[in-house]
Amino acid sequence: MQQLIRGRVLGFHADPAETDDNHRYFEDGAILIENGRILAVDDYARLARPDLPVLDHRPHLIMPGFIDPHIHFPQVQVIASWGAQLLDWLNTYTFPEEARFADQDHATRMAGLFLDQLTAHGTTSAVAFCSVHATSAEALFTAAEARDMAMIAGKVMMDRNAIPAVQDTAQQGYDDSRRLLEKWHGRGRQRYAITPRFAITSTPEQMQATGTLAREFPDCHIQTHMSENLDEIAFTLSLYPQARDYLDIYESHGLLSDRLLLGHCIHLHPREIARMAETGSRAVFCPTSNLFLGSGLFDEAGLRKAGIVSGIATDVGGGTSYSMLQTLSEGYKILQLQGQKLHPLAGFHWATRGNAMALGMADRIGTLDVGSDADLVVLNSAATPAMALRSERAETLSEELFILQVMGDDRAVAQTYVAGRPMKPV
Ligand code: GUN
Ligand code: ZN
Repeated sequence: MQQLIRGRVLGFHADPAETDDNHRYFEDGAILIENGRILAVDDYARLARPDLPVLDHRPHLIMPGFIDPHIHFPQVQVIASWGAQLLDWLNTYTFPEEARFADQDHATRMAGLFLDQLTAHGTTSAVAFCSVHATSAEALFTAAEARDMAMIAGKVMMDRNAIPAVQDTAQQGYDDSRRLLEKWHGRGRQRYAITPRFAITSTPEQMQATGTLAREFPDCHIQTHMSENLDEIAFTLSLYPQARDYLDIYESHGLLSDRLLLGHCIHLHPREIARMAETGSRAVFCPTSNLFLGSGLFDEAGLRKAGIVSGIATDVGGGTSYSMLQTLSEGYKILQLQGQKLHPLAGFHWATRGNAMALGMADRIGTLDVGSDADLVVLNSAATPAMALRSERAETLSEELFILQVMGDDRAVAQTYVAGRPMKPV
């Protein structure tokens, strides 16, 4: 059945940081959808037909759903844990909590609640770390498939430096990952990400196994963490004394490519920056997490200048909000501290098409291009009294976007469509 979704419509076709002709905006626009796909985007008057049902969101703003390229599903009950930096935080709060995901019932319950949080915050796709247990990945994929939501996820591989309840072995990590990958990768909208947690929690044997998987399944993403925290870096290099630097551990195991998503990338050396650029490896900026865990300031302009493509992500539960609006807001502040600027158009591009480009998936998600998936968010820039008051004085689209980013969260999300289906009661 064809449907029209009406409102003020915004979509990006280029990066505002690079090109002036970067977006299309329809003051009274509409998106024509059928079977979860976008058939057309235009002025409402040009698409309206007597036979078409209309979902009318005026005066709200409709844009592609947010994409969160780095988030931890088993940390839904870790978010907002006090007083630690990365390594303490992992050992004190995170690993014990992730241990609970061995239980299928717990994992299943949390998977549904996790996806509810994503869509409540306007996020329609995510790249998620699961726990070490295959049960957790099964639960997440099953819940995402039931919603027809594009999820890229993997069970973490980790065979040392953690409590036994969240450890696998090199062989079991390989076997479980391969079995999950063969079951879920490319099934509907699901994709598998090979997921070595980070070098600290993988032995060289396990790193070898991740490299084998990467070779065997070259179209799978690989997600991990790198250079988030100074103590982490020192410990990592002590575990891999032959490595030239942190990146070299991943490089020497054959993981570098444009499918590699490296969370954080805060404290990088020039050689690492050059190799990331040469190999197309992606950096993922996690602003709320980097502030919350006291990790450091991501050098967006520096990496961009070097030719590295970056995503921007929540990193819940080191991150403190599921909202990509809040993520952009904190990202803006981190760039401010370094004399860098994040323009609102560039920010909203980043959270949609930019992240899709970082994933190599912009042909399906992150834009309003004809034929792409009808994953949409409907935003209300007057969602709270304070936002309404400020919005009275907003004169341009950019001003409105900035108000949404600085003051908005899930309250500003009026509706979220996943593959054309509304996730909130209509
Ligand atoms: N490095 C390894 N694991 C994690 C994690 O769960 N969160 C963050 N922020 N960094 C990590
Ligand atoms: Zn993370």
